Amino acid sequence: MNDPNGLVYFDGEYHLFYQYYPDGLEWGPMHWGHAVSTNLIDWQHLEIALFPDDNGMCFSGSAIVDYNDTSGLFNGESGLLLFYTAHRVTGDGHDDYEQDQCIAFSSDKGRSWQKYAGNPVIPVPGFRDFRDPKVIWHAASQHWIMALACGQLIRFYRSENLLDWTLCSEFGAAEGAHTKGPWECPDLFELPVDGGQGSRWVLIVGVGAGEDSWGSFTQYFIGDFDGIHFHNENEPDRVLLMDQSRDFYAVQSWSDTPDNRRVAIAWVNNWLYANKIPENGWRGMMTVPREIRLVSTEDGVRIGQRFVAELDECSYRQHKTIVAETRRQGTHIDLATAQSINKPLRGLLTLKMEKDSRVALYLSQTQQPDLIFQLDEMGVAMHYQRSGQNGCEAFDRYFPFSVHLPVTDGSDSVSLEWISDNGCLELLVNDGLYSLTALQLCHSAAEGHHAAKMVVENGEVLIEKSETRIPD
Ligand code: FRU
Repeated sequence: MNDPNGLVYFDGEYHLFYQYYPDGLEWGPMHWGHAVSTNLIDWQHLEIALFPDDNGMCFSGSAIVDYNDTSGLFNGESGLLLFYTAHRVTGDGHDDYEQDQCIAFSSDKGRSWQKYAGNPVIPVPGFRDFRDPKVIWHAASQHWIMALACGQLIRFYRSENLLDWTLCSEFGAAEGAHTKGPWECPDLFELPVDGGQGSRWVLIVGVGAGEDSWGSFTQYFIGDFDGIHFHNENEPDRVLLMDQSRDFYAVQSWSDTPDNRRVAIAWVNNWLYANKIPENGWRGMMTVPREIRLVSTEDGVRIGQRFVAELDECSYRQHKTIVAETRRQGTHIDLATAQSINKPLRGLLTLKMEKDSRVALYLSQTQQPDLIFQLDEMGVAMHYQRSGQNGCEAFDRYFPFSVHLPVTDGSDSVSLEWISDNGCLELLVNDGLYSLTALQLCHSAAEGHHAAKMVVENGEVLIEKSETRIPD
């Protein structure tokens, strides 16, 4: 699988569609796979929802509930609508393709799908990269809005009936990050700012893999959307990253959630090596669903993330808690007892670092420290590293990386929420102000039998609290 698609909540179920090639372990003619969940944690696979046809493959897109049958496709009832990109190959060359926007609909809670006879609803525009429609209801202007990735910008279209779309504006030619790759998979929503300072619009944009960058990554813009234009409130060249690591792409949020929560999920991979990672009978996975918040910081309003609260309701086989323990240089502490690689691990950790202290955290069971926190005059800085070789050129060249991130400003405390599961390590630092999501592959199964631990490499560190859980 690759991108999450068509995230929508309807009649008690969260739907998760995804880019899927059922006949192989590398990217191929795209279908929409389909799964549903009532709690965002336990998922049931359903039949493939969309198959390629004469119009081409079914590329990424979104879904909404048409509660009032605005489209006229549901005989006055409510129904589900998918918006996707048809991708047609027109020749043998790498660039021989065209893309247009299409609709499919379902009147039986997504169990069967029909493609709209009037497809495409937005025809080929005269340029190639034209894809990944995200449709939302914009209450203030009483219109449906579609955000669409077009080359290296986002176009906004609007509609009254979900079938006829008019171009309103373009955003991004001189804003944010641009690489040699196209922009992809936009998302657009409004959220209140924590602490009651009004609300902001968020525009999320995937920046496609260019070899001039570190592959595919996710940027976002904060500002206002008035139904026609998006106004970025930061300087045009300010790049805001949704994740500081390498494997967080094509993020999308659920439409029509019952409680107005903004819940998002991302594909844990990077196009620079997605088709080359070691396979295990499958390739490609999603993050744990995350709740997106807006936080007011000294630099302005920024995205904060937390794992969805439903995760707290899972039952756990093991639960290890450590409270107020100090560790000195040369000592270590196990955060969980040794377990099998196949079991996910979830932890919360709050550390207070003494002067010049440094700790290494081994969380992903690869026998190498994933994370090093160090306190200096500036505050706590984090070093994150990943290694790994599998003899495949693209993988060996692009997979290893390290990042250095000042995570606090003057403060000596750091908090970390983490999940390690099946070769993926998800880290949320300081209440989710920083997210780091990365594949962390073990070289062999034997390597995966190590407890998560913290090693004090220098000075003294106080574990204010650590809680580690292994779900049933
Ligand atoms: C992003 C992407 C989308 C496209 C899909 C094809 O990962 O390239 O832009 O619709 O994947 O599978």
